[in-house]
Amino acid sequence: MAVQPCRHLLCGHDISKAFVVERWPIIGKPRKQFTALEKVSFHIDEGETVGIVGESGSGKSTLGEILGGLRTCTEGSVHYKAVNIRDMNRNQFRVFRRNVQFIFQDPKGSMHPYFRIRDIIGEPLKTLKLCSDREEISSLVEEMLAQVGLDKDIADKYPGQLSGGQCQRVAIARALIVNPQIIICDEAVSALDVSVQAQILNLLKDLQRKHRMAYIFISHDIGVVNYMADRIVVMNRGSIVETGTAEQVFITPTHPYTKKLVASSFVN
Ligand SMILES: Nc1ncnc2c1ncn2[C@@H]1O[C@H](COP(=O)(O)OP(=O)(O)OP(=O)(O)O)[C@@H](O)[C@H]1O
Ligand SMILES: [Mg+2]
Repeated sequence: MAVQPCRHLLCGHDISKAFVVERWPIIGKPRKQFTALEKVSFHIDEGETVGIVGESGSGKSTLGEILGGLRTCTEGSVHYKAVNIRDMNRNQFRVFRRNVQFIFQDPKGSMHPYFRIRDIIGEPLKTLKLCSDREEISSLVEEMLAQVGLDKDIADKYPGQLSGGQCQRVAIARALIVNPQIIICDEAVSALDVSVQAQILNLLKDLQRKHRMAYIFISHDIGVVNYMADRIVVMNRGSIVETGTAEQVFITPTHPYTKKLVASSFVN
């Protein structure tokens, strides 16, 4: 049956993902597979924040990576502005990749240690062929540094010379420089200590008010997700077990797994 084109900004329809964990020798065909996602449907609209929460291994990152086009799904489909990303031509896919950016847990790990911050933040402009003029890139980088609350002197430093919080601000600036419609934040504050976490969360909220982008906010911490999200999707073992407004899910959870997550967030 043909899937109806979706009216949301980004949506995933019945997404399943099986990872091959063992292959037959010589012929190389899959021998053993692991199902990381099973028929997961998801949508997000402009300016919205949707939280994805669940314990380690529940499939949150896999879902985020499939929605952002970093991985393919085994079954199902992802539509961006009603176009299936598998049917996009090279140009359409480049526009999609520009509009859906990522911020990961370990910003230092995702930055080249021998590149200056200036080049790291400006890099997406070159990769996505949005700008090649050095002066223009340099002034955009400085504007981004100011937006994420960093001094412009940082532009000439290397990732190893920055703190975790400063690095996460650089990662936000790198995502923001291409003016995306959606940012997928995968455990974006999990590695930071609590006071820096709060600063980064508030920065993300301020930037959202200014630029009106949508966030897919992935975290194992339902307290953090509740603070950020309008809607929450709860995942367990590759499936969605509960979804609703942040208030419904956090204040009046119905699924036993969600109740456990909420209870554990109060213990922490
Ligand atoms: N490339 C891969 N090959 C095989 N299995 C994988 C692969 N990537 C992920 N998995 C498995 O898929 C499941 C979901 O992984 P995923 O990284 O999406 O979980 P997660 O919810 O993001 O966990 P965490 O909170 O620890 O980041 C896990 O059991 C993981 O071991
Ligand atoms: Mg993950």
